[in-house]
Amino acid sequence: MYTGFKHLHSTIALLLLIVFALALVFHIIGLLTSSQYSKGHRVAALVGLIASHLQLLVGLVLYFISPLGVSNLSGDTMKDSLGRLYALEHPLINIIAIALITIGYSKAKKATTDKQKFTKIVVFYSLGLILILSRIPWQTWALIN
Ligand code: HEM
Ligand code: HEM
Repeated sequence: MYTGFKHLHSTIALLLLIVFALALVFHIIGLLTSSQYSKGHRVAALVGLIASHLQLLVGLVLYFISPLGVSNLSGDTMKDSLGRLYALEHPLINIIAIALITIGYSKAKKATTDKQKFTKIVVFYSLGLILILSRIPWQTWALIN
């Protein structure tokens, strides 16, 4: 089960980065060209949200079954940068990132003008993406190494 969840989390990570970056670029272009907020924009933002929520759920399960997750939390782990990344920084920062993404999606849904909708997504999704990219275990990510 551990291996299955690890592969799932690793694969969703790649898909998430692709759909999320596309959704963000699509909204940046929309904002810069003062376009109408179309159904395509709404769907792109929603697909990015769903991918991030799915990854949150799989990540939470993984955190409790992986030897690198909660079971590895200790004083010694905090002195090791890779151990600290897996057991603390990666989960914590990604939960914050996904919370920001969800807030942005929700604010965009409630916004009344097209410009506001674009701005909310661009600001919150950019912050979320920066946080996610800052805490990916790039050197050890099996899918890209
Ligand atoms: C740990 C698990 C999860 C938490 C804590 C969570 C939390 C939330 C929250 C707070 C919202 C409200 C956003 C708003 O104000 O509009 C939301 C919406 C949503 N979530 Fe999740 N979620 C989780 C897992 C999932 C999963 C596994 C999926 C699907 C694969 C999913 C799909 C959605 C969708 C489709 C919406 C609604 C978007 C809309 O309003 O159009 N979530 N979630
Ligand atoms: C956008 C959110 C996230 C992304 C893009 C992401 C991405 C990744 C990637 C690329 C790996 C390395 C996989 C490999 O080496 O094959 C990983 C590992 C891991 N992630 Fe995440 N993750 C996210 C959120 C989370 C969350 C919210 C948690 C926990 C609450 C979590 C827990 C873990 C754990 C425990 C591992 C280590 C698995 C192992 O090798 O045993 N992740 N994540």
